[in-house]
Amino acid sequence: MTDTVAQDQHHGWHPFTQMRDWCAPGHEPLVLVEGEGAILRDDHGREYLDGNSSIWTNLHGHRHPRLDAALRRQLDRVAHTSFLGFTNPPAAALAAQLCGLWPSGKLTRCFFTDDGSTAIEVALKMTAQFWQLHGEDRREFVAFGGAYHGDTVGAASLGGIATFRAGWHFPVTHVAGMEELEKLDGKRVAAVCIEPLIQGAAGMRLWPAGMLAALREWCDAHGALLIADEVMTGFGRTGTMFACEREGVTPDFVALAKGLTGGYLPLAATLTTERVYEAFLGGPERTLYYGHSYCGNQLGCALALENLAIFAEENVLSTLAGKIARLTELLAALEKEPGIRAVRQCGFIAGIDVAASGAAVCIAARKYGLLTRPIRDTVVVMPPYCVSDAQLETIITAIARAVRDV
Ligand SMILES: Cc1ncc(COP(=O)(O)O)c(C=O)c1O
Repeated sequence: MTDTVAQDQHHGWHPFTQMRDWCAPGHEPLVLVEGEGAILRDDHGREYLDGNSSIWTNLHGHRHPRLDAALRRQLDRVAHTSFLGFTNPPAAALAAQLCGLWPSGKLTRCFFTDDGSTAIEVALKMTAQFWQLHGEDRREFVAFGGAYHGDTVGAASLGGIATFRAGWHFPVTHVAGMEELEKLDGKRVAAVCIEPLIQGAAGMRLWPAGMLAALREWCDAHGALLIADEVMTGFGRTGTMFACEREGVTPDFVALAKGLTGGYLPLAATLTTERVYEAFLGGPERTLYYGHSYCGNQLGCALALENLAIFAEENVLSTLAGKIARLTELLAALEKEPGIRAVRQCGFIAGIDVAASGAAVCIAARKYGLLTRPIRDTVVVMPPYCVSDAQLETIITAIARAVRDV
């Protein structure tokens, strides 16, 4: 046993992990020590393809020369300064650029936090306070069955997967889809929160085409605010910069995290409208009392700016379109393989339902050079955008072989 494994098993506690199994005598945790492009290397020098972009965060690959250089440049100036009472060049520029990415021009304000959960959490607090300041009695938050919006208590309350809430949550109305939503008294609804186009943790479940636009219409008709959780779908994952673009929707809040720094550092942003922002202007009683120590972190913001520059200067989305098409072909062939129940794709995200245990398939796939995690019996494929066609084939072949083995 290496020192890392001993230290980890004696003192670590891993997310979403049954630690009895993790620390069981037969379990040898994989120790990842290096990465380059779409490849990760373990402490024995074995290489794997990063099939889920290190839990959906990495966009352009590991050790990307431009991102590495941007981080070093910022380190030569300063790593972190407080955003409470001060500003800094990368955070101010990033706020402006993120708002500028939304073509409608309606998202004009950017609030920084640390991760997807807190990006949602602040949207909830802004919503609740917005309606109080407005003097409107709207307290009902609505989310969808199967939804996942993070683990802070507000975000977790929106979650539609009961196991993740441990019985500790705020009241939220969960609906299965538009039909159930339409039965609610819209006048009482403060906000509806959705993962646009595709629910990730539900098992890569696709919404019907047009649903997002219909939801925007419903919110407008009833005066409710719309929160789009683009934590997974943002920054090109679905083929467009943001999933909302696909249905011409501008939400009242959008939560961005995961890929914001290209998958390098924790940083999140919640964008909102001038209407919401203006409601908070006035005396101390109108202030938004919310913030984290690392809000507007300079290293994270410098990385995020470089991430956006890579998108703008390196035709990322048009190159990605070709890879999405190749993934479609590979998935069509995979679907015919024994042990594959169904495949679903949304841009560069795929969910593959397997007839065996998803966890066993992912463990077996390591032998064939693939790292990914399942959601129950759905194997997730969402590699970094820099993955080559040959690597994409290796990923799909590894899954087919692993399913056969299991
Ligand atoms: C759609 C969505 N929202 C929010 C989150 C929470 O993000 P984080 O894990 O960065 O807190 C996730 C994480 O998987 C997610 O998929």
